[in-house]
Amino acid sequence: MNAANPAKNPIGVFDSGVGGLSVLREIRRELPDEDLLYVADSGHAPYGDKSAQLIEARSIAIVEFLVSQHAKAIVVACNTATSAAIETLRARFSVPIVAMEPAVKPAAAHTKSGVIGVLATSMTIASDNFAKLHNRFGADVKILMQACPGLVEQVEAGNLSGDKTRALIKQYVSPLLAQKADTIVLGCTHYPFLASLIQEIAGPTVAIIDPAAAIARELRRRLAGIKQLSPEAHAGTERFWTSAAPDKTKQVISQLWQMDIDVRSLSNGHGEKHRPEL
Ligand code: DGL
Repeated sequence: MNAANPAKNPIGVFDSGVGGLSVLREIRRELPDEDLLYVADSGHAPYGDKSAQLIEARSIAIVEFLVSQHAKAIVVACNTATSAAIETLRARFSVPIVAMEPAVKPAAAHTKSGVIGVLATSMTIASDNFAKLHNRFGADVKILMQACPGLVEQVEAGNLSGDKTRALIKQYVSPLLAQKADTIVLGCTHYPFLASLIQEIAGPTVAIIDPAAAIARELRRRLAGIKQLSPEAHAGTERFWTSAAPDKTKQVISQLWQMDIDVRSLSNGHGEKHRPEL
C-alpha cells in the first residue's frame, strides 16, 4: 500500500467467476498504467441461480478482501452481483464503486426495428435495477428479456465454441430474432467471450452491445474526478485470486486473458481472512 500517495494503489475488480475479465481487459486498455486486482468467485459461480442473500454476502466478503489489499476503487464486473448487492456495498464501503448496468440506453438509441433483446441471468432480469431501465426505455422500444441458464457454466469451463455452447446460444437468440430484434445487449459479463458466436448465429445485421468499454471510461472519469488516477507512467500489473481450485481457474483465466498467469487461492492465507463460510 502506498499511504503517502494513495493514487498509486491498485483497482479491485470482481465477478462470480471469469466473466469480469471481459471488463478487466477494457480497463487495461483504458488505464494502462494502473495496477489491477481481480477476484473470480468461481467457487460460488454461477451467481445467477443463487439467492440474493448469498450473493450479497459474497460481494461484501470480496470487497473487504480487495480493500484489505488497498484497492483505491472497486469495479463490480458482474451484473448479477450489481443487482443483488450494489446498494449494500455503497452503503458499507467508502471506496468508490463502479458497477455494471445492462446497456439498454445505447441499444434503444441504436435500434431501427424498435426491438432490442437483452441476454442476462434470471436474477438480473428480475431485479429492481432492470425494472427501472425497463420503465425508462420500454415506452420507446420493445425490450425482450432472455435469461440464459447454462451459458455462464460454458464460459467458466472455457468452452467458447463447442456444440453445447452453440446450441444454447441458438436456443436463446432465436426467439429474439423471431420477434425482429436488431440489437442484442450482453447483460452478463461472461457473454462478451461468446460475442463472435452470438454474432455468427444472430447474423451480420444484428448489433451486439457490450457495456464494458463504457464502464472502463466511467472508472477513468471517477478516478480523475477525485485525482486518484495513477501518477506512474509504467506498465500496470494484474494479480488474480479465486475461491475455486486455483489450478483449474488458472487454466481458464490464462485462456481468456491470453497469457499464462498465476492465480492465488482466496482461502490459503493470501487472502480471505474475512471469508464467511457460506
Ligand atoms: N458475470 C455475471 C453477470 O454479469 C455472471 C452471473 C452468474 O454467475 O450467473 O451477471
